[in-house]
Amino acid sequence: MRVIILGSAAGGGLPQWNCGCANCRAARDGGAARTQSSVAVSADGERWILLNASPDLRVQLGAHRSLWPRGARGTPITAVILTDGEIDHTLGLMLLREGTSKLPVYAPTGVAALLGAEWPLYRVLAAYAGVDARALPEARPLQLADAGGESLGIQCTALPVARRPPRYAHAAPAATFDVGLRLRDERTGGTLAYIPTAGAVDDAVRGTATGADVLLFDGTFWSDGELRAAGADAPTAREMGHLPVGGPAGGIELLPRVGAKRTVLVHINNTNPILCRTSGERAQVEAAGLEVGEDGMEFEL
Ligand code: MLT
Ligand code: MN
Ligand code: ZN
Repeated sequence: MRVIILGSAAGGGLPQWNCGCANCRAARDGGAARTQSSVAVSADGERWILLNASPDLRVQLGAHRSLWPRGARGTPITAVILTDGEIDHTLGLMLLREGTSKLPVYAPTGVAALLGAEWPLYRVLAAYAGVDARALPEARPLQLADAGGESLGIQCTALPVARRPPRYAHAAPAATFDVGLRLRDERTGGTLAYIPTAGAVDDAVRGTATGADVLLFDGTFWSDGELRAAGADAPTAREMGHLPVGGPAGGIELLPRVGAKRTVLVHINNTNPILCRTSGERAQVEAAGLEVGEDGMEFEL
């Protein structure tokens, strides 16, 4: 299985349009920018599955030759899996509206309901090529398939992770809004665990990630009060359902015990000090054997 981190930043990206934090200033000053959270995977290198659809999708697809159209019209993007209904993980579906056939989109039940009603992307897209909305069952391996039902060579198991529903979804009935994915290449046996948002290291995280070749995990915030400290009137990391990377019972302490062969942080917010290569926080991440994800990072599993 080939895996490309298309975007390693959380919502807002780096720099974020209205943020003057140290990292955003450095990025505007000629430092490396980061696009918003998405990953591409493929078993055969021909047909690709997007894990979340980033608002920066247009730039991300342009940056990787394997994701370019093959002929006069067409795309190697064969399916999309959504791990949550947040705007930073779904807005990119709008950017795929020029497609010429219905796009298979796998999503947790709660997310599919949101995208049909409260944040009605599916309804709007029906006037364009439209979406082939597919259920993502919980805790049961599913063979991913293209629009015609042909296997993509990857098995996907989704487990609900600890999180709160998206901010816009307060009226939505209780359902699963956030999942982690365990993706297994049926030929090589290579396994990717993808958990870009999680408020805890619990049984769902361990079930998804233990023994995986690579775990891509929520690296949104270093500390609980980080957004507030950056001047935003905001909830804490834990209130938002993001386990902080640092501090007691944070990612650095808990993730090495999960038992993935490699753990790479993704969905990193622009305020997070681990983005600065010379920070003490970055050194702590590396000393714990964890990696900081980058746009364009690739794995062969
Ligand atoms: C999140 O991951 O917590 C959300 O994307 C935050 C947001 O932008 O509302
Ligand atoms: Mn997000
Ligand atoms: Zn910033």
